[in-house]
Amino acid sequence: MKLFSKWFGRKHLRPELTPDLAAEIRRSFEASSGDEEHFPSTIDPRIAHVGFVLETIGELGRGRALDAGCGKGRFARIVRERNPEATVVAMDLAVSMLRHADAGLGRVAGSLLALPFADDSFDGVYATESLEHAVDIELAVAELCRVLKPGGRIAIIDKNAERWGHLETPVWEKWFHREELLKLLRRHCVEASCRPISYWEDVEPDGLFLAWQGRK
Ligand SMILES: C[S@@+](CC[C@H](N)C(=O)[O-])C[C@H]1O[C@@H](n2cnc3c(N)ncnc32)[C@H](O)[C@@H]1O
Repeated sequence: MKLFSKWFGRKHLRPELTPDLAAEIRRSFEASSGDEEHFPSTIDPRIAHVGFVLETIGELGRGRALDAGCGKGRFARIVRERNPEATVVAMDLAVSMLRHADAGLGRVAGSLLALPFADDSFDGVYATESLEHAVDIELAVAELCRVLKPGGRIAIIDKNAERWGHLETPVWEKWFHREELLKLLRRHCVEASCRPISYWEDVEPDGLFLAWQGRK
């Protein structure tokens, strides 16, 4: 496949986000929505990643949450179920992914690099395995924090740069060192922390995933 290469043992390259690359990323995800194995439309609510998002953003009441890079909205569906009075906005680059998201969600096409929302407009913001595709990570984190209200909470789950090479990745994908995202979050948040996270609570994390949280 043209877009993917096995880079086991190779250095983590950092491509520039040119218009061509942005178009390539969009095309790739638009074409992937039929791939239910790699881009599932549901997630078991007992999975620790879901618990982390729910715990971090907290009880929303009639508040607003943003799932940034929501894919098919599998996290957003559960956030809405747990917060039936809240407005949960599911946003993704790929319209074909969004079509799978529940109609009860606010479904919005947009980019992590130019979020189509006002400053300070969400009580909770989260991004699960989407920041790794944003390429301009500094800008994406600034955008996620811009739309968060003061006092609001942000959750990011993504892959650990120390495990780079563990999986096949597209050429634009980036994984993160814990301090790398903490430094970016601390520019906008009064507190931020990071911990390893596994899929299941009763299984020790294998180091592949890290979970960051911050409070603006
Ligand atoms: C691996 S999927 C994760 C989807 C979802 N967060 C989940 O955990 O099920 C990555 C998603 O990020 C989206 N994405 C990639 N780059 C993006 C960008 N710049 N802005 C918004 N979404 C983006 C893709 O379209 C894709 O749906």
